[in-house]
Amino acid sequence: MKTILGCILFVLAGSALAQAPAPVGNAEAAKSKISMCTGCHGIPGYKTVFPHVYHVPMITGQQPVYLLNALQAYKSGARTHPSMRGIAQSLSDQDMADLAAYYSSEHQ
Ligand code: HEC
Repeated sequence: MKTILGCILFVLAGSALAQAPAPVGNAEAAKSKISMCTGCHGIPGYKTVFPHVYHVPMITGQQPVYLLNALQAYKSGARTHPSMRGIAQSLSDQDMADLAAYYSSEHQ
C-alpha cells in the first residue's frame, strides 16, 4: 500500500516538475496589471451580465496555486467563461504568476 502511494506521489511530483519552470510571482509587479481585474473582482458581490448573469468570485486571499491554475485553465480553454478567457489569453505566464501572488496576499 505504501509503495502504491509512493508511486502516485512520485508521478504527481514528476508531472508538476515536467511543466516549464514556473515563473516566480511578484505581487509588486502585479500592481501595474490589476487595473483590468478590479473592475469586476474589486467589487464584492458584483455580477456580470454577459452572456449570462455570472457571480464574480472573490479571488483575494485564495491560494496562489489555485489562482494560477484557474487563469491557466481560462487561457487553455479548460474553463470557458468568455470574458475570463479573453483576459487570460492576454496574460503571459509571468503576468499570471504576479497576479496570483498579488491576489493571494490581499486579504480584504
Ligand atoms: C468582465 C469582468 C471580469 C474581469 C475584468 C476579470 N474577471 Fe476574473 N472572473 C470574472 C467572472 C464572472 C469569473 C467567474 C467565471 C466562471 O464562472 O468561470 C471570474 C473568475 C476568475 C478566477 C477564478 C476564480 C475561482 O474562484 O475559480 C480568477 C482566478 C480570476 N477571475 C482572475 C482574474 C484576474 C487576475 C483578472 C485581471 C487580469 C480578472 N479576473 C478580470 C469576471 C472578471
